[in-house]
Amino acid sequence: MNLETTYMGLPLKNPIIAGASPLTASADSIRRLEDAGAAAIIMHSIFEEQINHEAHELDHFLFKGSESYAEAVGFFPEMELSNLESEHYLEEISSLKKSLSIPLIASLNGVSKGGWIEYATKLQEAGADGLELNITYIPTDPNIDGRIIEKLYTDALETVLSAVKIPVGIKMNAVFSAPANMAKQFSDLGAKGLVLFDRPVHVDIDIEGLNALQTINPSSSTDMSESLRWCAILYKKLAASLCVSTGVATHQDILKAMMSGADAVQMATALLKNGEGHIGTLLTALTEWMEEHEYHSIEQMKGSISLQHTLNPAAYQRGSYMRILTDYRY
Ligand SMILES: Cc1cc2nc3c(=O)[nH]c(=O)nc-3n(C[C@H](O)[C@H](O)[C@H](O)COP(=O)(O)O)c2cc1C
Repeated sequence: MNLETTYMGLPLKNPIIAGASPLTASADSIRRLEDAGAAAIIMHSIFEEQINHEAHELDHFLFKGSESYAEAVGFFPEMELSNLESEHYLEEISSLKKSLSIPLIASLNGVSKGGWIEYATKLQEAGADGLELNITYIPTDPNIDGRIIEKLYTDALETVLSAVKIPVGIKMNAVFSAPANMAKQFSDLGAKGLVLFDRPVHVDIDIEGLNALQTINPSSSTDMSESLRWCAILYKKLAASLCVSTGVATHQDILKAMMSGADAVQMATALLKNGEGHIGTLLTALTEWMEEHEYHSIEQMKGSISLQHTLNPAAYQRGSYMRILTDYRY
């Protein structure tokens, strides 16, 4: 069975990518993911806050001889450069690259186009095979026009693209007014991969403590819906490759992603729940299903149930929306 695919121009032995999570934050679990059959690794993110915060601390370090500066901003005489998290992240990449035989994609998580983006060149120098940008901006100001927000995303992407030669992907969220147009803008600018979609951190309210909360919201297969919809809509419309993320947990989910038009899937929650070895179980089940249904390759099924190929395009559009709601019986 030929499970090979290509994502962001990188040849993959199968479509399963371990998405950014605590499992891709430790060299041991990254090796276990590779042993279980993962085709590529997205490292846990390095966050803009970490890089900029550290850049600020670095200023403190560099200026520690200057009394006036030290008085103004505080004094951190003992700081060691080698302890900085952003330095550590680069070291992690260099060291992992020596032993891994699958692509290692670094993940930059931020929103401004400031100094953190210069860090992208360091990630490339450290040996990352690609870069995934996660730009999560919550536009709380009702006076800010959506076009300004869109430009913030495209500016950040453009700046990173101008800084590196390795392929750059972008992890999108589904809440743009026109996700297909945003995806096209990213692809036209040169993003080589689009991850559909990131999963926002869950917001809740503690009614006893009278406070707002943020929690991790583990996904399940039913959460794939928007990723499948937009992947099916975007199939063959853009140069960038497509990766379904959010809710991919079973071999059936991987099949659905491929049929909608994805080149690869990313998994986080299901691997955290079931352990790295889950990938091996999925690959066996995927191969068996494909043999039973007389498929020869992943390529053969890609996009077979996309918007342009399905017998029921209305499922992805407004078409059957009214009927589904009005036909429902309880
Ligand atoms: C505990 C945890 C940590 C995560 N850390 C990151 C991260 O560092 N960077 C990132 O871009 N996404 C991060 N994610 C998001 C996942 O990569 C993924 O996009 C999301 O969970 C949806 O995929 P899933 O349904 O397979 O979990 C994290 C998710 C979880 C559950």
